[in-house]
Amino acid sequence: MKLSDNKATLSFSNGSPSVELPVYQGSIGPDVVDIRKLYAQTGMFTYDPGFMSTAATQSGITYIDGDKGELLYRGYPIEQLATNCDFLETCHLLLYGNLPNTAQKADFTKRVTMHTMVNEQMQFFLRGFRRDAHPMAIMTGLVGALSAFYHDSTDITNAEHRDISAIRLIAKMPTLVAMAYKYSVGQPFVYPKNDLSYAGNFLRMMFANPCEEYKVNPVIERAMDRIFTLHADHEQNASTSTVRLCGSSGTNPFAAIAAGVACLWGPSHGGANEAALNMLEDIQKMGGVAKVGEFIDKVKDKNSGVKLMGFGHRVYKNYDPRAKLMQETCKEVLNELGLHNDPLFKLAMQLEKIALEDDYFVQRKLYPNVDFYSGIVQRAIGIPVSMFTAIFALARTVGWIAQLNEMIGDPEYKIGRPRQLFTGSVKRDVQPLAKR
Ligand code: ACO
Repeated sequence: MKLSDNKATLSFSNGSPSVELPVYQGSIGPDVVDIRKLYAQTGMFTYDPGFMSTAATQSGITYIDGDKGELLYRGYPIEQLATNCDFLETCHLLLYGNLPNTAQKADFTKRVTMHTMVNEQMQFFLRGFRRDAHPMAIMTGLVGALSAFYHDSTDITNAEHRDISAIRLIAKMPTLVAMAYKYSVGQPFVYPKNDLSYAGNFLRMMFANPCEEYKVNPVIERAMDRIFTLHADHEQNASTSTVRLCGSSGTNPFAAIAAGVACLWGPSHGGANEAALNMLEDIQKMGGVAKVGEFIDKVKDKNSGVKLMGFGHRVYKNYDPRAKLMQETCKEVLNELGLHNDPLFKLAMQLEKIALEDDYFVQRKLYPNVDFYSGIVQRAIGIPVSMFTAIFALARTVGWIAQLNEMIGDPEYKIGRPRQLFTGSVKRDVQPLAKR
């Protein structure tokens, strides 16, 4: 980051001396006011719940321009990456900063492929869960448990450990997600197969069984790959910030990523695709397209507590570029599977159209986010709704690990320790039990 000529001055109405604060410039995006010395200079903190105006870190990985609806990974627009590159190329880009050339791609793919199996003992750990456990509950446990199985890559101060744990996490997440699914449906686990692509291998581990050959459908494989690419990173969102904060204590990468998985589970974050599809199914049961108007009225009524899931975003105040790509993939998948008249897709299009014309949504700059269409695609592929967030976690793992490794390599990295505005009781004395 570069120091700007511009400086900020903070003055107080009570006559306390004003303070001058340095301003830094990034390569693009808003400048930041450096408040690190504010407490030492004034005895005051800043107050910013939800980090509405606070940059918690500098980062060179992902950039979002929410007003333009632009998403760049290492400078490359998401549209170009989703169209011209596959997920493993995107992983290489996020982790190492550059798109791989042919030799680098082959080497990276080989490294990931050679780490897709998980320790056989993990099966027994998984078998301890109830069959009806939510896949995200299982994933939180399994990812945390990786640190118990891969001791030789848990030292975050060692660059080799960081690299091998990144490869292991990227390679093993599809295996673990597929195992969680197979366990829930009572089918045998399917081992990875090295001659398949990352997405193709995942599909096979999810849907193959020992009784027949499984042939990967290239349209579905491409759709799966695109889902992974679109979810690979999204700068300092809640789960990524969780991974950074957790990792800032020096904990091992598997534990930090498990914290990210737990955070992603929430319906305001990764759980939104599950919530969006459940919402579409509920409207369909109520009467489908004919009931869209009534549903939108409910969303606009603040007392109803109903939200249009898959709409709105903290950063995008314009169309989420991933939603456009996902809508395209949705059409491709439905056509391939002969589902072009899918009622939920029609319902989603109608809901989007009405919402985009409605003042409530226009004024608040609420647009579809990536989750609005991703649920329909996954459902068409045959993925049960309860697995959606686990697949999101699989895809986001590379972003989490890239951000974690970036933080550890940052000379300004410190343990994360937010401060507070205390509003509780002032000091008081404990009374004997009989007198309370
Ligand atoms: N439906 C109805 N109203 C909404 C929605 C929605 N989906 N999203 C925001 N609003 C309204 C809010 O009620 C608020 O209205 P007000 O100004 O009258 O009080 C206004 O729009 C601003 O919204 P905030 O909640 O302040 O925006 P914030 O940035 O805090 O929240 C969030 C963003 C959590 C994503 C929100 O839009 C939401 O809950 N959306 C639905 C869940 C969802 O799809 N999440 C996925 C996010 S993408 C991802 O994680 C991959």
